[in-house]
Amino acid sequence: NKIVLAYSGGLDTSVILAWLKETYDAEIIAFTADIGQKEELDGLEEKALSTGASKVYIDDLREEFARDFIYPMFQSGALYEGQYLLGTSIARPLIAKRMVEIARKEGAVAIAHGATGKGNDQVRFELTAAALAPELEVIAPWRLEEFREQFPGRAEMIAYAEKHGIPVQASASKPYSMDRNLLHISFESGMLEDPWFDASSEENEGMYVLSVSPERAPDAAEYAELEFERGDCVAVNGVKLDPLQVMEKLNELGGKHGIGRVDMVENRFVGMKSRGVYETPGGAILFAAHRRMESLTMDRDVMHLRDSLISKYSQLVYNGFWFAPERLALQALVTESQKNVTGTVRVKLYKGNVIAAGVKSPVSLYNPDIATMEADPTQAYNQGDAAGFIRLNALRLKVASGVEQNASQT
Ligand code: ARG
Ligand code: SIN
Repeated sequence: NKIVLAYSGGLDTSVILAWLKETYDAEIIAFTADIGQKEELDGLEEKALSTGASKVYIDDLREEFARDFIYPMFQSGALYEGQYLLGTSIARPLIAKRMVEIARKEGAVAIAHGATGKGNDQVRFELTAAALAPELEVIAPWRLEEFREQFPGRAEMIAYAEKHGIPVQASASKPYSMDRNLLHISFESGMLEDPWFDASSEENEGMYVLSVSPERAPDAAEYAELEFERGDCVAVNGVKLDPLQVMEKLNELGGKHGIGRVDMVENRFVGMKSRGVYETPGGAILFAAHRRMESLTMDRDVMHLRDSLISKYSQLVYNGFWFAPERLALQALVTESQKNVTGTVRVKLYKGNVIAAGVKSPVSLYNPDIATMEADPTQAYNQGDAAGFIRLNALRLKVASGVEQNASQT
């Protein structure tokens, strides 16, 4: 009788580990995905074992995360509700995918997670599990009444932890919840629940981890050059890098210049609005540079078609449908749309801004000879043609206007 638990080492999943073991009389296999959360991983294995896990998996999934999740998503230009670069959303399907692989390998009957019954994460974990391993049972303790009754607050959890010899970091816990990975850190709850709370204030500067505030960023701008191949960034400042290295490099550059902070009230899939603050320094640079690369190299109608699908694609990622057939179908279109998105973008990083500072491509579709106000040596465009083009497009507008005028006279 084995259960695989998505384990972070925090108070919640530590208590859940011990509680599952006690309640289901099962062997608990603790699984932590290393997706770039850094120091949160220190000492995790011993902690899981001393909390009662029979086996611990700590898998480095950072390369896969960057290559197979972050990169394909950035090709799409995904941005949820115009602001959120989906840092948590895109990580969940990868965590769940690895979790079900472990469950199958270990012959486990169930997987368990510590997401609450009010959030998006439960949906993302469980839709992924349904798509990849429908035979597995899912245990979500926070959705069980008996669990919530036993743990109405933190005090009860701490008492339980102490009773079970679970090491609790002495009030090292922050008054808000954080989720960190290679792409971002999200901050939610606590004082952030008040949308009038100013998270950008100097007093709140201690919350941030990946970036300085624009006010504290250097007074001197810094240039960066990003090289793209088929929509993917393959080099920064002339150095070839794999996707993981690109994200690390851009995070460092963006963080230094106060880039990628977002503060928003977003719509959760489960229906409620929720306030979130995000740091996405590297992602913000990549997003801006990628769009600029497209501006030179992408066919207009291909771009407009892809753009019309951004909101759909973003919703699919946000809502947990990464492994759904419609996301895969959309991805095929998105990836095809990127086959000419190749070249180099230069940006200037300055106090929270990613400023355009040049773009070039061996496969540029931009032709200054055609666009120029000077005489066109190619003769590809005849200005006289524009008169007929406008007349035909104007036809129905004139007809409609005439109908309206007649109606207002009678
Ligand atoms: N609101 C963001 C999202 O839904 C971030 C969620 C953070 N999750 C967490 N377990 N702290 O993607
Ligand atoms: C949670 O409720 O577990 C975190 C927030 C979310 O999933 O949206």
